[in-house]
Amino acid sequence: ISLKPYNTFGIDVNAKSYCNISSIDELILCLEKYKEEKLFILGGGSNMLLTKDIEALVLHINLKGISIVEENENWVTVKAMAGENWHEFVLWTLEQNYGGVENLSLIPGNIGTAPIQNIGAYGVELKDAFVSCEAIDIKNQKLKTFTNEECKFDYRESIFKQQLKGKYIITSVNLKLSKKNHKLHLDYGAIHDQLHSSGITDPTIHNVSDAVINIRQSKLPDPKEIGNSGSFFKNPVISTEDFNELKLNFPEVPSYKVSDTEVKIPAGWLIEKAGFKGKRFNNYGVHQKQALVLVNYGDAKGGDIHKLALLIKATVKRIFKINIHTEVNII
Ligand code: EPU
Repeated sequence: ISLKPYNTFGIDVNAKSYCNISSIDELILCLEKYKEEKLFILGGGSNMLLTKDIEALVLHINLKGISIVEENENWVTVKAMAGENWHEFVLWTLEQNYGGVENLSLIPGNIGTAPIQNIGAYGVELKDAFVSCEAIDIKNQKLKTFTNEECKFDYRESIFKQQLKGKYIITSVNLKLSKKNHKLHLDYGAIHDQLHSSGITDPTIHNVSDAVINIRQSKLPDPKEIGNSGSFFKNPVISTEDFNELKLNFPEVPSYKVSDTEVKIPAGWLIEKAGFKGKRFNNYGVHQKQALVLVNYGDAKGGDIHKLALLIKATVKRIFKINIHTEVNII
């Protein structure tokens, strides 16, 4: 079976076998039955670059459902199943007038994969609303709850990418959202500009979501039209010392202070400066409006895109002496 419809990069590789999972019982049954087989867990397919056929049984997690676990007049805790589409979930929260994830509008992928890399955008990360998630231990099929703290969230990081990589399947996520007095995150310059140019002075969560959608649509390619996985690299964090040295050669380098000793540099800027922005090689390349995004213009091979990523990484290293690391999983 071809996995092309199931990865947002639109890479055409085959899987040895495939199983659609629509209930937890089904998932447990499958894990027991195929204990000896190599498994490949597939969620929204929005953070992977497939470079070869998958010699494994693909378990496609399609668990659905959204329910309210707990609420009072100010807050609500919502449980969303892993197979719910992230953005559709955000739209649902907006319909209910629940605040907390509006800045995360239009991020591709599913609920179940959101904690793995602690999705984030425009000043908000999943961890800010995250209460807990449930996950199945692949080895013994037992459900376990992970609290926010236990997930060890960091910038595009969690325990599920580190110590527990490949050991658990996330089945649902609980998020705490506000019902009134929403705390808006408007510090990100582009959001500010969007609201200002629309003449909005007292924004609602709906206005913020619309602003984010506008910003994203203006720079990020829609995976339905052009295959991609969002940011291909993470923004590198370097020491203040290295940053001061970098500034001697590149005074215009943009940066965000992370701590007294560390600075984050936008990888998109490094890649653009290295001359890759908008570069097209046959059927793949670097997005025209955001150099951090690699794109598949149609029928590109994952291996070719991977080679381009390695070339970008080496070039950035040569020019700036900075190591950039992929955010996307290379498989
Ligand atoms: N820049 C350039 N050239 C480019 C792209 C960016 O010079 O081609 C510079 C500009 O100075 C710009 C700055 O980089 O002001 C920041 O760019 P942008 O606002 O687009 O954000 P980013 O740092 O490139 C990160 C996330 C995005 C997220 C945005 C907004 C990572 C790896 N990426 O990108 O997340 O949407 O901030 O918060 O942290 C994703 O993870 O898939 C993703 C899209």
